[in-house]
Amino acid sequence: MFLSLAPMIEQREKNEERWEYVTIKKMDIEDVEEVLHIAAATTYNPWSKKMILEEIAHPFSHCFLLYQKTGTGASLPLGFLCFRQVGEESELLNLCISPEFRQQGFGKKLMSFYIDFCERQGVNQYFLEVSVTNTPATHLYHSFGFRSLGTRKNFYQGRHDALLMTRSVF
Ligand SMILES: CC(C)(COP(=O)(O)OP(=O)(O)OC[C@H]1O[C@@H](n2cnc3c(N)ncnc32)[C@H](O)[C@@H]1OP(=O)(O)O)[C@@H](O)C(=O)NCCC(=O)NCCS
Repeated sequence: MFLSLAPMIEQREKNEERWEYVTIKKMDIEDVEEVLHIAAATTYNPWSKKMILEEIAHPFSHCFLLYQKTGTGASLPLGFLCFRQVGEESELLNLCISPEFRQQGFGKKLMSFYIDFCERQGVNQYFLEVSVTNTPATHLYHSFGFRSLGTRKNFYQGRHDALLMTRSVF
């Protein structure tokens, strides 16, 4: 029996078209409301407006926004990433994808960008904290070579434990 390849080709073209318009840019103060909207959708330690503004202004911090250009030329925010870098060390502070765009590879896209950016800056040691109950994020970090160092008790809102993870490149 011969299967038609047409639907598969159409799907592939759709995927390629989608990625073509997905871009990462440095986060600006004008992006704060959109970032806040995405951050508010997470159950794990959602960032406040004050926290986002402080991070944008922090001298060791880097904040980026992932967005898609739509057919009308508008920018549709998909997710964001914030990390700090001091010398050869970096700490990933937040990575968040808007709920309606999850499980489509955007988290991986931001993680690849993060690792690539840091490698270019000479980073060889990475750290992050993630809730022990946050399976999607933990899975993502493992797939990028992070391993568990231990737990911090009652780290989130004094209730949830955090897993401390690290990635070394030597
Ligand atoms: C964690 C998060 C960023 C992942 O983003 P995403 O765009 O959905 O992830 P991707 O589609 O790129 O998938 C990345 C990997 O995670 C896995 N994954 C994503 N969602 C998952 C889920 N609900 N359960 C299990 N694995 C999941 C994918 O299967 C994929 O792994 P694979 O390559 O082995 O198939 C997203 O779930 C999120 O924004 N969560 C809320 C914010 C948050 O908790 N951030 C972490 C702060 S430390």
